[in-house]
Amino acid sequence: MASLHTSFLNFSLSSFVLLLLSCSWYKVSWAHDGETVEIAVHSLLPETNCIPSSKGFDNHPSGKLQLVDVNGPCSPLETTPSLEEILHQDQLRVRSIHSMINKHVRDSKAKIPTRFGLPFKTKNYVVNIGVGTPNQNLWVTMDTGSSLSWILCKTCPNCRGLPFSPSQSSSYSNIACGSADCSQAYSATHHSPACRDACIYQTQYADSDYSVGFFARETLRLTPSDVFPGFKLGCGHDVKLRDSTSGILGLGSHPASLVYQTATKFGKVFSYCLPSSTNSNGFLAFGNQTGSTSPAVRYIRLILNPQNPDLYYVPLNGISLNGRRLAIPASTFSAHGTVIDSGTIVSYLPPSAYIILRNAFRAAMSGYPSATPPRGGVYDTCYDLSRNRTVTIPSIKLNFGGGIDLLLDQYSGVITNVGSYKFCLAFSANDDEEETTIIGSIQQKTYEVIYDVPRGRLGFRSVGATCN
Ligand SMILES: *[C@@H]1O[C@H](CO)[C@@H](O)[C@H](O)[C@H]1NC(C)=O
Ligand SMILES: *[C@@H]1O[C@H](CO)[C@@H](O)[C@H](O)[C@H]1NC(C)=O
Repeated sequence: MASLHTSFLNFSLSSFVLLLLSCSWYKVSWAHDGETVEIAVHSLLPETNCIPSSKGFDNHPSGKLQLVDVNGPCSPLETTPSLEEILHQDQLRVRSIHSMINKHVRDSKAKIPTRFGLPFKTKNYVVNIGVGTPNQNLWVTMDTGSSLSWILCKTCPNCRGLPFSPSQSSSYSNIACGSADCSQAYSATHHSPACRDACIYQTQYADSDYSVGFFARETLRLTPSDVFPGFKLGCGHDVKLRDSTSGILGLGSHPASLVYQTATKFGKVFSYCLPSSTNSNGFLAFGNQTGSTSPAVRYIRLILNPQNPDLYYVPLNGISLNGRRLAIPASTFSAHGTVIDSGTIVSYLPPSAYIILRNAFRAAMSGYPSATPPRGGVYDTCYDLSRNRTVTIPSIKLNFGGGIDLLLDQYSGVITNVGSYKFCLAFSANDDEEETTIIGSIQQKTYEVIYDVPRGRLGFRSVGATCN
């Protein structure tokens, strides 16, 4: 099936990178920076068949793992969440991110002990890893919003994923109670110490899923050439996990994170490309993969907050629509910060900023029939494009400091398909003006997003819909 994907990367008015991956008979007109582009409505419809392109993953490139959308047709796992359920999960994740942040704010202001916000769980992108000796292969969720990695170690009534069997592995060992390694598990999961012959970790999620088990050392194999003996991870014996994965790979910036545990080899640099066409796969890469021939990477500041090592912050200060900066004061974003997250789907803005963006978007889309938004309240600006052959979607840019802008992909960064020919603006409003802005996964598509932790910068490289 021919499809058309467009991707833009633009960091200044003078630079303009355009990647047109495949083009069928559709007539397409391109315009200059900030102007709009007419695209065939048909090309916006999601693919329903998996046409996997292995992109050299069979050769197991060093430091590079195939990343698969767990809800897409290429998913290796049995998953049938409805759109409503996916959006509900997204809201739970956003609420738990906010409660985690606000917990620290409240603590530092009032010094009143408050309950920790529950960690948040992503359910969107999975990678296949090898654990143990001999190697057992497991599908786990990649999560930039948590640090402790854990795997399912037992079949359980409340989970469906394939478990790892520690008894079949010669390299498995539990971590002792009271050790420095053990306290790392407590601080990574914000949990009080627990011990049952060996160190116990516990992690609980906002959607009432949880994982409890031994904190252990085991050999982790990311690729055949990237093997890490003695990797510290949770071995879950009492787990409630709604999806069919076997656990979580934590990429936060706490010392327990994979990013820190593999620092000697990969220098705390990792990147991902989220698959934006459902018939293609993305990647999760470790270390500096930037060859001399690859297109330019543009960097913005990556801000780590020691109080919240599970969150990566960026300096968003404005939004432009069709090349015009919207009248949102930079302080709207800077007052409570902006988190970039791979596990939240939609971007969530302070309500005052969202309304300005939404109104400008609606004005630009006034020529199209509106549609009833899906239930759940995530979206409120939707269109029925079933009777339009082409559509001109307004261009949206996220403005960061220093004149750096990120032009969102018009195919997958601005609107999202919510069933048949219905599309919604892929942004939402936070419940409260005081809550942190979140840049979700939709807006990161068609880019390789590079987390360079030691240099405190986040890179964007335009890679198009197929993550090449
Ligand atoms: C990777 O290496 C290239 C070439 O040496 C360098 O220009 C670039 O800054 C490095 N990127 C990271 C994220 O370290
Ligand atoms: C889209 O289709 C609707 C229904 O046929 C029509 O009223 C509207 O004018 C079309 N919009 C554009 C911009 O062509």
